Amino acid sequence: MNINEKIKEKIVLALDVEELEEAKNLVDSLYPYVGTFKVGLQLYTKYGNEVINYISGKNSNFFLDVKLHDIPNTVEKASENVVLRGANFFNVHATGGLKMMEAAVRGAKKASETLGKKEPVILAVTMLTSISQEVMNDEFEIEADVSKFAIRLAKLAKKAGMTGVVASSLEARKIKEACGSAFKVLCPGIRPEWSAKDDQKRVATPKFAIGEGADYLVIGRAVTKPAQGLTPLEAMKKIYDEIGEI
Ligand code: C5P
Repeated sequence: MNINEKIKEKIVLALDVEELEEAKNLVDSLYPYVGTFKVGLQLYTKYGNEVINYISGKNSNFFLDVKLHDIPNTVEKASENVVLRGANFFNVHATGGLKMMEAAVRGAKKASETLGKKEPVILAVTMLTSISQEVMNDEFEIEADVSKFAIRLAKLAKKAGMTGVVASSLEARKIKEACGSAFKVLCPGIRPEWSAKDDQKRVATPKFAIGEGADYLVIGRAVTKPAQGLTPLEAMKKIYDEIGEI
């Protein structure tokens, strides 16, 4: 099968598994179809370098989903280290503020210069999907509308020089309108029609998300724990077929 490179570039596979062997098996069978492998805190805090080295050996992009959030100086140094470790995608919380995001960009730039590599994709998490309007109002005593607040944070991320944001595909269009089409949007909560929703509430199909302007699709359980007795590879191929030509 000829791999559609435009689709491949958009696919970010979430390696949310317990064991290194499981992650390695997924990487081995799926790497021809995956632009970027995403390692989150679950796997990273257990296996650290081992998992990084395995992915780096496969020549795919490596997204360290660490969601940094600290004072600017600490985030600058941590961002530098994340990139020195081999990540070419990583993220920070936009609620850390403009100065903190600028510090992340500076740290990453310094590391890229040291390595002689191109600068990484740095994404801002605007509002966690677990923060509802009620949490904003009742716990934080912030009166703002949660989706307007997310757009405000996306604009701030752009100002800081971030590559883009993490957002639901249901908000991708609004973000592009507010921040411009070059500002990247990475969308989780992706579910083909035939896949279980799991704990995701606001889901969209891969094709819909791309139509809304998603630059990257985070695909996790739809492929790593596929429905209908499919193997991960079969599920991935089905997603490619479903997206069709882009
Ligand atoms: O398995 P599933 O496709 O639901 O995995 C989604 C991935 O996207 C997970 O790694 C999760 O941490 C991440 N994510 C999310 N919702 C957000 C931000 C990130 O599901 N708002």
